[in-house]
Amino acid sequence: MSTTGLGFSGEVADFYARFRPGYPPPVVDALVAKLGLTRDHAVLDLGCGTGQLAAPLSRHVRRVLAVDPEPDMLAHAPALPNVEWHLGSDADVPDLGPFEAVVVGQALHWMDHERLFREARTEKFAIIANGTPLWRQHPAIRRVLEDWFHRPITADCGTDAVARQRYADALSRAGYRSHEWAIGYTHEHTIEELAGSLFSAMSPNTLPKPHERPLFQEKLHRALRSGTYVEPVTVTVISTS
Ligand SMILES: C[S@@+](CC[C@H](N)C(=O)[O-])C[C@H]1O[C@@H](n2cnc3c(N)ncnc32)[C@H](O)[C@@H]1O
Repeated sequence: MSTTGLGFSGEVADFYARFRPGYPPPVVDALVAKLGLTRDHAVLDLGCGTGQLAAPLSRHVRRVLAVDPEPDMLAHAPALPNVEWHLGSDADVPDLGPFEAVVVGQALHWMDHERLFREARTEKFAIIANGTPLWRQHPAIRRVLEDWFHRPITADCGTDAVARQRYADALSRAGYRSHEWAIGYTHEHTIEELAGSLFSAMSPNTLPKPHERPLFQEKLHRALRSGTYVEPVTVTVISTS
């Protein structure tokens, strides 16, 4: 198990790779079109995780440098001819590049975004939220988590309007003009997949033990009164041009 202390290590990384919805082709196509990316371009995917965005994006551009500080996440990344997986963080960005675009999917809240916007050697940015946390979407999911952990579960993970405005303001201070746009899709989870997606948002020390997981799934099933959950995902993007 890695020692970054970020929470994306060990089994959490396994759950992330297996159960997090990625970015469906229409979302990636829209991102490529908005950023004006072509096969001549190099892109930095910062906080790339297990490659949810870097992998589909690589089909549209010349090269993706995909950077993440968590080796266990990178261990799940697929081998692709034009993607270089690199262990690092936002602190390394001044030494990287230049790039036509820097994309950050669901990860900016872990970074010093002011510094990143000032120091990255790039023409464009895209800050992407792949929907909102599951516990923000459905009160039954939130209740199951709160009963399990005996505390309120309120994290927005940088997806809320206040955080998005903060990012847009910081981009403006760094000299970029940004605008926000959105694109939707739906993702159907079985209860096992839903539990796996929730486990991927926990840290290794709070993850239910393997023998407790059937009970966690049963609680989800009972709370939702269904064997599936259809997640209505609105991908929100702040991009510069
Ligand atoms: C929620 S995952 C996002 C993965 C992927 N980009 C996606 O859209 O699904 C957040 C990732 O940010 C990474 N991360 C955390 N702190 C970071 C930092 N300071 N610089 C770069 N990445 C960081 C974590 O290791 C994790 O893999």
